[in-house]
Amino acid sequence: MKVGVMASGRGSNFHALIKASKNSEMPDVELKILIVNKKDAHAIKIAKKNNIEHVIITSDDKTRNEFERNALSVLKEKQIEIVVLAGFMRLLTSEFIKIYRNKILNIHPSLLPSFPGANAHRDAIEYGAKISGCTAHLVDEGIDTGPIIMQKSVAIDKNETAESLSEKILPYEHEILPKALQLLCSGRIILNGNNVEILSD
Ligand code: GRF
Repeated sequence: MKVGVMASGRGSNFHALIKASKNSEMPDVELKILIVNKKDAHAIKIAKKNNIEHVIITSDDKTRNEFERNALSVLKEKQIEIVVLAGFMRLLTSEFIKIYRNKILNIHPSLLPSFPGANAHRDAIEYGAKISGCTAHLVDEGIDTGPIIMQKSVAIDKNETAESLSEKILPYEHEILPKALQLLCSGRIILNGNNVEILSD
């Protein structure tokens, strides 16, 4: 399946996808394009280094609809079938989601449905949770509410900070995002409402 990745910053999850692809861990995935909405996103350097085409569509000066129109035309031109949000820090409109219904994968740094939103690490610590983790899920119209494909948990220790928790969770993001993408692209994900059933090989 032809996959487009959307990112806003560092790009470590994008890098994890590239590595998994090179290691033949995602045989049904073809990483075709990176779309970034920040012109200084480090993800761009990763794309260049790995010969993956990238497009910069800055979003600061654009309305959401304008940004998405541009992004959708790139995705259409490249015949992208699956979209991965890998640290893409912008909400998508329902129009965009409708076009790629159940075909947009996101990675979030908490055990959803707990601690959705942009400050998941801080929120989990402030709440006093003893466990957090990460979630690979399909994107629906809500904020981090879509069907859950895979999760990994980590302990929240005494004196944990948002930074230390983020460092602890990140390697697990890098582990489950490629796995979830391969499951999606190989057609092994069946949806029963919000529940995901994973078909065995
Ligand atoms: C990750 O923690 C991801 O879960 C969240 O944003 C961060 C992006 O990191 N959505 P990176 O750009 O992939 O390094």
